[in-house]
Amino acid sequence: MAKQYGPTDIKESALDLIGNTPLIALDRIWSGPGRILAKCEFMNPGASIKDRSSLSMIKRALNSGQLKPNGPIVEVTSGNQGCGLAVVSAVLGHPLTLTMSAGNSPQRASMMRALGANVVLAPQVEGKPGNVTLADVTQAENLGLKLVEDTGAYYVNQFNNDDNSKAHEEATGPEIWRQTGGRIDAFLATVGTAGTFAGVSRYLKKQNKDIVCVVVEPAGAEVIKGDPVTKPLHLLQGSGYGKVPQLFKFDTMDSTLGVSDEEAVHYKELLGSKEGLYLGYTSGANVAAAVKLLQSGKLPKDAWVVTLLNDSGLKYPADV
Ligand SMILES: Cc1ncc(COP(=O)(O)O)c(C=O)c1O
Repeated sequence: MAKQYGPTDIKESALDLIGNTPLIALDRIWSGPGRILAKCEFMNPGASIKDRSSLSMIKRALNSGQLKPNGPIVEVTSGNQGCGLAVVSAVLGHPLTLTMSAGNSPQRASMMRALGANVVLAPQVEGKPGNVTLADVTQAENLGLKLVEDTGAYYVNQFNNDDNSKAHEEATGPEIWRQTGGRIDAFLATVGTAGTFAGVSRYLKKQNKDIVCVVVEPAGAEVIKGDPVTKPLHLLQGSGYGKVPQLFKFDTMDSTLGVSDEEAVHYKELLGSKEGLYLGYTSGANVAAAVKLLQSGKLPKDAWVVTLLNDSGLKYPADV
């Protein structure tokens, strides 16, 4: 007689580990009234929120025929998009070349290489390691565009690719809505390409236009707020490039909040010591801003505020 087995629970590949992240209550940092709830995006296989847009952009490029099966891919990255694309490319069998400013952390380059990507570092134009400016990103972009021209590889182009924000409109937003049972008063996010903020806020506003959607910006680089850039060098790697990104839409934004490096570091440390979560700087910034919003008195007293824990602290040098 054939042996009987129980039902199985097996993920077919790392792609099935992307998204559906848990929502955690940060009750030890903010004990109320109200609650800070955060999506554990560091639990994606590439250890950041950018895995979601990586899968969305590659799947859709394959579906539309812009990218051929096993065809070469090029992208410019601050590291997290690169790690996400490297996860997806490894599983689907695409050769991947990533250009990145040398100002981003070496941990990110190591991880991308370990995932099988070819990493080309662009020398830093200004600032110092850990502070990546628009000029640095432009330098890495020029290097990437040259590679695309020379090789004919598919260029992902995260800053101008609508399938980036669609990942969040079709998954991150609905997950937040489902996980809170529709009880959400405010949503906050830092902005790099704006894929996350644009997609999530678009979805949430469709469910309830009264959800307050707040952009988190580095103090001194608050261009979405409309202020001139006085401090282009900040610690919020992956966000706050001093330019309103093409994917950003003002119509789903209610307000902005600025967060200093010191505040981001303080909450990054509290996330570690009080919540047991070792995370990066934009996660600290999101939580710092969530606390400010709850303290502002602008929300109902028992408000539920949702934000994102964007990436793992292991992606950064310990001394920055
Ligand atoms: C650590 C980190 N936080 C936040 C963001 C912003 O995400 P988005 O590009 O969706 O605006 C990024 C983007 O690379 C990031 O790397």
